Amino acid sequence: MKAETPVKTLLRWPGGKRRLLRSLLPLVPANATCYCEVFAGSAALLLNKERHPVEVVNDLNGDLVALLRNAHFHLPALMEEMRWFVASRRDFHEFAAQPGLTEIQRAARFLLRNRISFGGGMKSFGVAKTGSGVGFDRDEMSERLEGVRRRLNKVVVENLPYDRCLQNYDSKSSFFFLDPPYVGPSTGAYEGWGQKDMVEFRTRLDRLQGRWLLTINDSPDNRKLFSDCLVRPVATSNRLRNNRTTETASFGELIITPA
Ligand SMILES: C[S@@+](CC[C@H](N)C(=O)[O-])C[C@H]1O[C@@H](n2cnc3c(N)ncnc32)[C@H](O)[C@@H]1O
Repeated sequence: MKAETPVKTLLRWPGGKRRLLRSLLPLVPANATCYCEVFAGSAALLLNKERHPVEVVNDLNGDLVALLRNAHFHLPALMEEMRWFVASRRDFHEFAAQPGLTEIQRAARFLLRNRISFGGGMKSFGVAKTGSGVGFDRDEMSERLEGVRRRLNKVVVENLPYDRCLQNYDSKSSFFFLDPPYVGPSTGAYEGWGQKDMVEFRTRLDRLQGRWLLTINDSPDNRKLFSDCLVRPVATSNRLRNNRTTETASFGELIITPA
């Protein structure tokens, strides 16, 4: 189900699924009527897959949802707001304390803070001496925003807790991509889950009519919780796990579908 013209993500989001696209895309059914990305983050899967008749992206993070909405409705104003942005440590901290007066300013500043933070974690100013992710490339961001604006045409952008989102969009012909926070510590961008949250979430999945695809961190508890499903372990890497150096650290994820 890979899109003919994939779109680049706006955000560098902790736990983003760009690295797993090759494994995930074949598991998205072409014949679903409604595709719903319940924990959207950078919406990596939506931006890289073919269209479905109805598409929904949802996230609890209001800043992230406001960025997508403004890319959708106010793109020229958002680009104008970014016109003089540079990767400045001072702006990084000042914008966190005072994110802006208007919704467009806040969306632009959220995007800048994300792009220039360490690993997209929003917490500390990123320092890099090599690599392509250095600085804030306004021209590239404008292109990405234009791509996202086009791809979001007809997509519904929700800002709901996951259970409300599942309730609203569930049906026999729906398909949910579920990528909740890892069980473990919080990132700067969002709170981590406890094992209790994962157990509650598992119980909720049992009541779904639609099909689903889930990615979670690999742990004995998670393997046990989903032992009656199809579970494929995959290795991936994450810069945030190893934030003392710029090296990446490998850790495992589970790709899970109903049996
Ligand atoms: C692992 S990230 C998703 C990454 C995404 N798949 C990507 O490729 O960038 C988890 C996301 O879930 C969101 N989230 C956390 N708790 C939530 C909840 N109860 N309901 C909806 N979204 C939630 C967070 O804001 C975060 O963006």
